[in-house]
Amino acid sequence: MKTKLLIVLICFATGLFAQKFEDLAKTPPMGWNSWNKFGCDINETIIREMADSMVSKGMRDAGYLYLVIDDCWQISRDSLGNIVADPQRFPSGMKSLGDYIHSRGLKFGIYSDAGTATCQGRPGSRGYEFQDARTYAAWGVDYLKYDWCNHGKQNSEAAYTLMRDALYKAGRPVVFSICEWGTTKPWEWAKNIGHLWRSTEDIINCFDCKNYWGGSGVLQIIDQFTDIGSYTGVGHWNDADMLEVGNGVLTPEEERLHLSMWAMFSSPLMAGNDLRKMSAETVSILTNREVLAVDQDKLGISAIRWMKYADLEIWFKPLDGGAYAFCFINRGSLPVTLNEDLKTTIKKYVIDANFLVRDLWKHKDLGSSAENIKGNLGAHEVLMIKLSRK
Ligand code: GLA
Repeated sequence: MKTKLLIVLICFATGLFAQKFEDLAKTPPMGWNSWNKFGCDINETIIREMADSMVSKGMRDAGYLYLVIDDCWQISRDSLGNIVADPQRFPSGMKSLGDYIHSRGLKFGIYSDAGTATCQGRPGSRGYEFQDARTYAAWGVDYLKYDWCNHGKQNSEAAYTLMRDALYKAGRPVVFSICEWGTTKPWEWAKNIGHLWRSTEDIINCFDCKNYWGGSGVLQIIDQFTDIGSYTGVGHWNDADMLEVGNGVLTPEEERLHLSMWAMFSSPLMAGNDLRKMSAETVSILTNREVLAVDQDKLGISAIRWMKYADLEIWFKPLDGGAYAFCFINRGSLPVTLNEDLKTTIKKYVIDANFLVRDLWKHKDLGSSAENIKGNLGAHEVLMIKLSRK
C-alpha cells in the first residue's frame, strides 16, 4: 500500500501525470495573430503597435485578448540549445515584449513547431520541447501555437502530448493551440491534449476558392464543418483558422458571413488584419458584440447545417438560456428570397411561436417566431438571428 502511494507521489512530482491546463479556454480563445497580414515581415515595433491598437480600437474590450506572434520571430539556437529570437527584429527580447503586451491588459502568444524546423524553416522544437517550454514560461508566454511542418515520422498524438507535458511541467498556464491542419483528425484525439486544434488547412484570403496545396477559402472551410461540430465543446475547440476580415479582399458582406459562421462554429477568433489601419466598418464588424456573444456562448455547441436549398444554407446553434442562433447564408452570386417558418424541431430542440427574433447585424428586433422569416439575401450575404424565449 505504502509503495503504491509512493509511486503515485513520484509520478505527480515528476510530471508523469501531466495533463493540459484545465479551465484556460472555457470559451473559444480570441485575439490577434501576425501571420495572415504580415507573414515573416514582423518586428517588435509592429507587435507593440498592434497591442496598442487592440486597446485603442476596442478590440481588447470586445474580448480579443491573446496577441500571438506567429512564425519567424526565432532565428537560431545558442550553444546551450536555447531558442534565440531574431536580434535585428526583436532587439528588446521576448521577455520585454511579453511585459509590454501584459501591460496593455493582453495575453502573450508565441509560435513553434513539433518538427525540426517551422514551416518557414526556423528552428522547431523537436528534441527541445522541455527546454523551450521552460523558456516560454520565463518569458511570460500565455499561449502556444504549435505547428506540424517537418514533423518527420512522428505520431501526431504523441508529438502534441509531449509538448503538452512539457508546458505542464514548466508550470506556467499556457493555452495550447494544436496546428496540424486536420490531417490526422485531431478532433478524435486532442481533447485532453490541447485547448484548440486547427481543423482544416490554411485559410486563403478569398470567399470561394481552393488551392492545389490544400488552402481553403471561407466557403471551403465552412464545408469542412458539416461533420465535425460534435467534437467541439467547453475547453476544447475546433479551430477554423484565423480571420481574413479587414485584409482588403473580402467584401463587407463576405466578411460578415465569415465572422458569423466562425461564431456559429464556436471557433477561436483570431483577427489577422492590420489593426492600426482599420476602417470604421472593419472595426464594427470585428467588434459586433451580439455576434461575438454567439461565439462565446457558454454551452460551446457548434452549429449544424439544418437546411440546404441550392445556394441557400441555414445553420442552427443552440445557445445558453434556451435561446438559438440561426444563420442564413447565400453562397451564390444571385439574390435569394427567404420565406422560412422557424417553428420546427431540430434534434431535441423545439422551436415554437414563443420566441423573440433579433437581427444580430442590424441590431434590430424582427418580431416573433410565430411569423415566417422573410426578405432577400444578396450575393454572399448573411442573415444572422437570435431567438430568445419571450
Ligand atoms: C502553417 C500554419 C499557418 C502559419 C504558417 C507559418 O502554414 O498552418 O497558420 O502558422 O505555418 O509558417
